[in-house]
Amino acid sequence: MAAGVFLFVAVNLACLSVSGNLVSGERSFSIDYKNNCFLKDGKPFQYISGSIHYSRIPRYYWKDRLTKMYMTGLNAVQVYVPWNFHETVQGVQNFTGDRDLEHFLDLANQTGLLVILRPGPYICAEWEMGGLPAWLLQKPNIVLRSADADYVQAVSNWLAVLLPKMKPWLYVNGGNIITVQVENEYGSYFACDYNYMRHLRTLFRFFLGEDTVLFTTDGNTDKEMKCGSLQGLYATIDFGTDTNITKAFKRQRKYEPQGPLVNSEFYTGWLDHWGDQHAVVDALNVSRVLGEMLTMGANVNMYMFEGGTNFGYWNGADHDTRFRSVVTSYDYDAPLSEAGDPTEKLLAIRDVIKQFKDIPSGPMPPATPKFAYGFVNLKKVGNMSDLLNTLSPLGPVKSQYPLTFEEMKQYYGYMLYRTTLPRDLSEPTPLISPLNGVHDRAYVSVNGVFQGLLQRDTVLVMNISGRQGDTVDVLVENMGRVNFGSKINDYKGLLSNLFVGKDVLSDWRIYPLDIDGAISGGWPHSDGQGSFPAPQKEPSLGPVFYMGTLQPNGLAWDTFLKLNDWTKGQVWINGMNLGRYWGHRGPQQTLYVPGPLLSTTMPNNITVLELENAPAHQRVLFMDRPQLNVVGKS
Ligand SMILES: *[C@@H]1O[C@H](CO)[C@@H](O)[C@H](O)[C@H]1NC(C)=O
Ligand SMILES: *[C@@H]1O[C@H](CO)[C@@H](O)[C@H](O)[C@H]1NC(C)=O
Ligand SMILES: *[C@@H]1O[C@H](CO)[C@@H](O)[C@H](O)[C@H]1NC(C)=O
Ligand SMILES: *[C@@H]1O[C@H](CO)[C@@H](O)[C@H](O)[C@H]1NC(C)=O
Ligand SMILES: *[C@@H]1O[C@H](CO)[C@@H](O)[C@H](O)[C@H]1NC(C)=O
Ligand SMILES: *[C@@H]1O[C@H](CO)[C@@H](O)[C@H](O)[C@H]1NC(C)=O
Ligand SMILES: *[C@@H]1O[C@H](CO)[C@@H](O)[C@H](O)[C@H]1NC(C)=O
Repeated sequence: MAAGVFLFVAVNLACLSVSGNLVSGERSFSIDYKNNCFLKDGKPFQYISGSIHYSRIPRYYWKDRLTKMYMTGLNAVQVYVPWNFHETVQGVQNFTGDRDLEHFLDLANQTGLLVILRPGPYICAEWEMGGLPAWLLQKPNIVLRSADADYVQAVSNWLAVLLPKMKPWLYVNGGNIITVQVENEYGSYFACDYNYMRHLRTLFRFFLGEDTVLFTTDGNTDKEMKCGSLQGLYATIDFGTDTNITKAFKRQRKYEPQGPLVNSEFYTGWLDHWGDQHAVVDALNVSRVLGEMLTMGANVNMYMFEGGTNFGYWNGADHDTRFRSVVTSYDYDAPLSEAGDPTEKLLAIRDVIKQFKDIPSGPMPPATPKFAYGFVNLKKVGNMSDLLNTLSPLGPVKSQYPLTFEEMKQYYGYMLYRTTLPRDLSEPTPLISPLNGVHDRAYVSVNGVFQGLLQRDTVLVMNISGRQGDTVDVLVENMGRVNFGSKINDYKGLLSNLFVGKDVLSDWRIYPLDIDGAISGGWPHSDGQGSFPAPQKEPSLGPVFYMGTLQPNGLAWDTFLKLNDWTKGQVWINGMNLGRYWGHRGPQQTLYVPGPLLSTTMPNNITVLELENAPAHQRVLFMDRPQLNVVGKS
């Protein structure tokens, strides 16, 4: 026995000795309350599952990740459906391309993996607004995750589209979905509204039938188990390696005296926020506790097995004592890395699983090849303020006082608020957000000259100067909506007035910005390489766009983009929004660039929006390995 390898002996044999009572060949999936286990086709069944989020992995890598999960010995995957990813515009659902959920289910089925489906409607997941569409916030006082009539109407409309699509994929109907979760950790939410949960139960039963195994998942406290569970929905629990598993399953037993033990989220790792240390969970602890749970006959889903990436603007945020947003990488210290590569943790887990079941023979698919394409020089495209014709084709909306993103119906990214100085400010004068209404960061310029920034909860005052009538530009960034807790009604933009000294700023022109639309339309590269000034040597301050091209070298391998000495911003390559960088703060230093995004024959278009302070050498570096664990300077 090698050091660090654990040996386990299954002790809960009760479940394993049941004999099937079904006609052979008939597909069924159910709970055997008498023998405390699941029954699949009438035979005892224990799942060893892992979470994977299709919304965080490019479609062309789905099969690769699923195959690696199967080769580890898993027999199921657990999948969240992010409502806001599919219904960005109310009433218009998208299930194509990277959003093709049925294709994902099909690949899992082809791979030999069963599916534990978690359709929400709320999912948490460290995902923007916990998966809820931000357009729900158009009703100012909506009580999300409750029996609020508008909320329930929207949920009902969505589930009436989603669940009928899922029905043919249920195991009994020839598909691979064995169980379906209702809501998500509902007991952690203040509302504790049983009418809402009853309404969901009715909808799920109506669309999926009476026999489908529906379940809930809640944290390991009585308050959570109590508010989150409901008769007719099988109550399961979630916890990580630092929990006493005997006590935790005893708590599940309090709510489900009979039936299988289930840990629906066994934490293999954890998420990162900007400015925090990179989270790590010890691989030996993960494999030890996994073995202990399997020994008890428990069903286990590892959260995450493959984390992936919060591309674009999809990261969530927490708000406990202050607002903290989740980094772009969702590597999660999971057994498969952000780039889908097997880790030591995966091998340790496979060694444990081997002791409980046969695992597929054959080699583990290797890590996808990585390439260090090296440095690429960028050049300045222009200040944000000078590019409004391109980025805001519809032009501004006039308003005496600021409007929120939600009122403007632009839900994600950046928006520009423009007004003029009401009087001369010859001395540095405080610009104040007295009600802490900047959600989440505001980059302020006067006549195009960057003056500084305001930041939710932490920087409510800065100084500006200028003359009466000077243009004040306030670029506001949505850093991702809160995904957990009581503060998920997380409106973005300027939520309250800004003051200079005692004077309120008013008469705004508010520019919605469609940066992603402009970039996917070819800008700025389509404007011609020659029409830009020579690269600037001196650093630029404030929100500025840069562009460059990575010359093709015949390879389209995965790579990791490092913006060393840049401060904070957003990056696109060939039209794809790779997410936010903020190496200055950390811990994430590199952005994952999926290889198939790169062209092997044409120059690859890089666009960078730096919000604060670009370095003198405006270049970026493509490396062959990630760097996720360096806490920055600020
Ligand atoms: C639907 O999503 C796919 C994949 O993300 C995207 O390519 C497509 O443009 C979207 N369709 C619509 C109509 O927005
Ligand atoms: C799932 O896979 C099985 C076996 O590979 C196949 O028989 C079945 O038709 C598939 N189900 C669906 C819905 O594609
Ligand atoms: C492993 O888990 C134990 C019990 O929770 C904890 O005390 C220990 O610090 C963990 N080990 C590591 C290396 O994290
Ligand atoms: C877990 O809790 C039980 C009591 O419920 C106790 O007997 C046992 O020693 C605890 N296990 C550990 C590892 O602390
Ligand atoms: C744009 O940026 C440069 C610094 O790079 C600055 O000198 C200029 O004033 C800015 N604004 C305008 C409106 O030109
Ligand atoms: C604003 O300027 C005043 C006067 O120069 C200075 O005392 C104060 O510290 C500055 N405040 C901030 C927030 O920079
Ligand atoms: C880069 O942008 C140019 C101009 O819009 C476009 O013609 C070209 O196809 C783009 N390259 C790639 C690899 O998409």
